[in-house]
Amino acid sequence: MAVSDLTSYPPPAPEPGPPRRRDYDSPGIDPQTAGPTPWPTIRHWVSEAIAASESLPGLAEPTAVSVATVDADGVPNVRTVLARFLDEHGPGFVSSLHSAKAAELAANPHIALSYTWPGLFRAIRFRGTAAAIETEALVAYWRTRPYGSQIAACASLQSHPIGSRQELEREFATWAAHYPETGSVDDVPMPADFHGWRVHPTEVEFWAGRRSRLHDRIVYTRVADGTLDDPAAWAVSRRQP
Ligand SMILES: Cc1cc2nc3c(=O)[nH]c(=O)nc-3n(C[C@H](O)[C@H](O)[C@H](O)COP(=O)(O)O)c2cc1C
Repeated sequence: MAVSDLTSYPPPAPEPGPPRRRDYDSPGIDPQTAGPTPWPTIRHWVSEAIAASESLPGLAEPTAVSVATVDADGVPNVRTVLARFLDEHGPGFVSSLHSAKAAELAANPHIALSYTWPGLFRAIRFRGTAAAIETEALVAYWRTRPYGSQIAACASLQSHPIGSRQELEREFATWAAHYPETGSVDDVPMPADFHGWRVHPTEVEFWAGRRSRLHDRIVYTRVADGTLDDPAAWAVSRRQP
């Protein structure tokens, strides 16, 4: 389907027929091979998703994650972001302090984050609390952003209303004129509202789709302080699918 078809109106009617159904046949996962901590499997699955994204179009953004927060009324909110950080302390992402997620996390740091790779019949779910990414790591990431992405971050008061696309593009042009592109990574200073959060997990679940919906779910539950690679910090169990 061409991209232009996506905006055609009225859209084509969905094909009639039974619900789409596909059997999942991942190799699965068990606590023995997964080991006493979640870290090796996290690293392995994310690396495999990145490698698979070279050939599977559906995996175009293998580090895209869903991030769930709750608002002041306890109502859940979820959106997709890119996991820009991942180490033994947990996955992390960047966004704007103007955003809804920033306000929600400031009031309630509880968070859930999920990598979901339907094309690989796999998901990794994290639950925990969010904390600010260290400034040094954030600035290092900022300097890797392309010039246009840096300008867009300056121009957007994320999650706030704006009247039109033209107004947004005017903001972009104003900021681009303010910080002209010379090709240096320091063309655009990191704005004060550019922020990063890391999830400090209390639970990590690996989901592997198996035949006849008899899936594997291996769950690591935090029992003590420690990194994702500290065997003293985690208890492992299997959950029913
Ligand atoms: C594939 C994809 C990647 C995205 N990456 C980011 C990101 O890294 N950071 C970000 O703030 N928003 C990203 N977004 C936009 C968010 O989904 C969301 O619209 C935005 O962060 C505002 O969310 P909020 O109003 O709930 O705070 C991405 C969206 C998609 C679909």
